[in-house]
Amino acid sequence: MKQIRKAVFPVAGMGTRFLPATKASPKEMLPIVDKPLIQYAVEEAVAAGVTDLIFITGRGKRAIEDHFDKAYELEAELQLAGKHKMLREVRGLLPAGVNCVYVRQGEALGLGHAVLCARHLVGDEPFAVILADDLIDAPVPALKQMTKAHARNGASIVAVQEVARAETGSYGIASTRRPTGRLARMTGIVEKPRPQEAPSTLGVVGRYILSPRIFDHLKRTKAGAGREIQLTDAISRLLAEEAVYAYRFEGRRYDCGSKLGYLEATVDYALRHEEVSRGFRAYLDRLPRAEGRRR
Ligand code: G1P
Repeated sequence: MKQIRKAVFPVAGMGTRFLPATKASPKEMLPIVDKPLIQYAVEEAVAAGVTDLIFITGRGKRAIEDHFDKAYELEAELQLAGKHKMLREVRGLLPAGVNCVYVRQGEALGLGHAVLCARHLVGDEPFAVILADDLIDAPVPALKQMTKAHARNGASIVAVQEVARAETGSYGIASTRRPTGRLARMTGIVEKPRPQEAPSTLGVVGRYILSPRIFDHLKRTKAGAGREIQLTDAISRLLAEEAVYAYRFEGRRYDCGSKLGYLEATVDYALRHEEVSRGFRAYLDRLPRAEGRRR
């Protein structure tokens, strides 16, 4: 079975939930402690063996290109100042042999449309899609878990997790046959159904391995939920002709597209960060007492 070589990162979204922070800088560049969200996503792809990173960008997203580009002045300054550790970090963002390509999505027509913009670069092979605002902390990187499953069955695979029924309106919701281990054959998928209409509470999380047939379906997909061209709708058509699996990944997902999820990720990652964990834990330990005094 073929290795997944290409990953698509749709990063053209406006990030309205984080305004004004995202007025002039991309939401994907928001840091969790000291690494931007997009870098976590890229590292996950690279850990899964991906070598071609395809970013679907839009207006105001140039910081992402700069982030993965060589920064001559910065490197020269760090070199001069003898800051070798930092220099290694800045230089080593991407391992050798990994390439970035940027495609502009002229209009924000939806996630499905963004993925379709990568068609000419992906060609005729299965590929991954990663949504950077879903940060997943896992013993084995989530995409790697999925590429392993893909290597066994060769089919399209969508990451899922149980969500609260009240929240189905924020997710693609999948229905499946009975699972075998973490995999379950998908029988249907619908974008952001109301709780009373949701076929299940199995929510799609932003990791996909897709057959290139998806592009034909995307091409024919009209605007759906939120008047956007939805990837979910194309997957729904794909599963009528090919097997698609839902994969219950191992790990914790943080919805970094929401303020609360972002803050939870920040706290958890800070508590494990080699430089700040001790000081941060000490700070948190002091908090309840400070709260008590205030009351
Ligand atoms: C997108 C997808 C949705 C999925 C979600 C996961 O929605 O359309 O199916 O459940 O990502 O984060 P968005 O959050 O971009 O509205």
